[in-house]
Amino acid sequence: MTEVHVVRTISELRAHVRDWHKAGETVALVPTMGALHRGHLALVEEGLRQADRVMASIFVNPKQFAANEDFGAYPRQEADDIEKLRQAGADLAFVPGPQEMYRPGFATGVTVAGPAVQGLEDRFRPHFFGGVATVVAKLLIQSQCDVALFGEKDYQQLLVVKQMARDLDIPCRIIGCETVREADGLAMSSRNAYLSAEERRTASLIPAQLRFVADAVRAGEDVAQAIAKASAMLGEAGFVVDYFELRNGKTLAPNADPANPRRLLVAARLGRTRLIDNIAI
Ligand code: PAF
Repeated sequence: MTEVHVVRTISELRAHVRDWHKAGETVALVPTMGALHRGHLALVEEGLRQADRVMASIFVNPKQFAANEDFGAYPRQEADDIEKLRQAGADLAFVPGPQEMYRPGFATGVTVAGPAVQGLEDRFRPHFFGGVATVVAKLLIQSQCDVALFGEKDYQQLLVVKQMARDLDIPCRIIGCETVREADGLAMSSRNAYLSAEERRTASLIPAQLRFVADAVRAGEDVAQAIAKASAMLGEAGFVVDYFELRNGKTLAPNADPANPRRLLVAARLGRTRLIDNIAI
């Protein structure tokens, strides 16, 4: 099994990447906030297929959490994460502290506009995509990676990152990978750890209702009616639904013309846990 280099500074990270590039090797990055699960490890495995070397970053990014959110409670388990990365075959873990990522006096932010940031997560977490775009832009520039991999579970995030990398001419290919699910369909997420045993059972209603609406859409039934029915089911089970929407799958524009790929996206809160998921149509 490979050794994982654990580096905490940008200069060490760049030294490794420089050596790999000098040897003619390509380098992939899997940006994470740690608390790694099989979804993250699937990104590492895809990274190994796409590039010669794979790095994962572990950084709980304060800029993408609002004051009332779970920054303090977000699970942190570095030793366990590094062992998982080692077993998955990653070459390097970049684990910067907050001072390394945001030096004193840091004053720059990346703001993405356009359909990818209109009307879904941004309505409920207005600070979120600015924080994500800023830290991911930094990670791509710091690491000089050739490829970066993101899960489709955070589909809106994936499109925001693609838009940002394209607009800023960052020479890195952004790859989205299919959502990895538990046996009952629940999308893997580090935040699933917040669910009580009862909530965990209820949480499988999210993928079940996505499938229900997707089937109805594919069968040509009335989309609004199917979504209303699914949202009511979730409400009865104790969820507070933030949104449940059919969008253009490429741009996330609200006009989901059946001639184009479409994406059905949902966000709902169950107790103190907010779950998001989506499915291609
Ligand atoms: O999806 C995540 O874990 C985070 O939003 C990311 C992309 C690592 C940026 O902090």
